[in-house]
Amino acid sequence: MSSAFRLVEITTENVEDACRLSVRPDQQRLVQPVAQSLALAYAFGERAWPRLVVDGEEIVGFLMAFFDVPFDADPPGVTRDGLWRLNVAAGQQGRGVGRFAVEEVARELRRRGRRTLTTSWHVAGNGPEPFYRRLGFRPTGESVEGEIVGELDLGAPGTG
Ligand SMILES: CC(C)(COP(=O)(O)OP(=O)(O)OC[C@H]1O[C@@H](n2cnc3c(N)ncnc32)[C@H](O)[C@@H]1OP(=O)(O)O)[C@@H](O)C(=O)NCCC(=O)NCCS
Repeated sequence: MSSAFRLVEITTENVEDACRLSVRPDQQRLVQPVAQSLALAYAFGERAWPRLVVDGEEIVGFLMAFFDVPFDADPPGVTRDGLWRLNVAAGQQGRGVGRFAVEEVARELRRRGRRTLTTSWHVAGNGPEPFYRRLGFRPTGESVEGEIVGELDLGAPGTG
């Protein structure tokens, strides 16, 4: 599906608007606020990839990818790449923003030669599991910080 959505970097011009982006009140325990993710991005440097999804001039979503990060239970030398945070603005859900965000992270990972996109989700009645399953993520059987770990196979390099 083509869309008018674009990814933009966080800048001095948009950072305060970015921090005002909010999911629905009933979803607020499912994902950290944007400001907290940006604090992590500051600390993780090159291993964090925060971006806004904009539609025209309007900020409709926030994502943060991660690169080369080990999970707590991973053996030495093992790292993962994927989607760390995804917040679609309360009034903008259900119109493809989340799908676009995941596709853009997949594109960036393929560009970096990676084959797997890892994420994790909180299990709750209003949680994002149906969304991730719809996009092709499959649980790995692991959990991290109380969340289900899921992976999306990005296929062979150069595909998709
Ligand atoms: C989960 C979330 C990211 C989904 O974003 P979105 O922009 O509403 O999703 P999209 O419109 O891109 O939906 C993509 C597909 O998933 C499906 N989908 C999305 N949410 C769904 C749900 N709750 N149940 C079933 N299907 C769902 C859509 O129907 C769509 O399918 P289609 O393309 O075949 O029509 C968004 O609801 C959100 O920000 N939730 C709160 C925060 C959160 O849970 N973030 C994830 C942290 S791990």
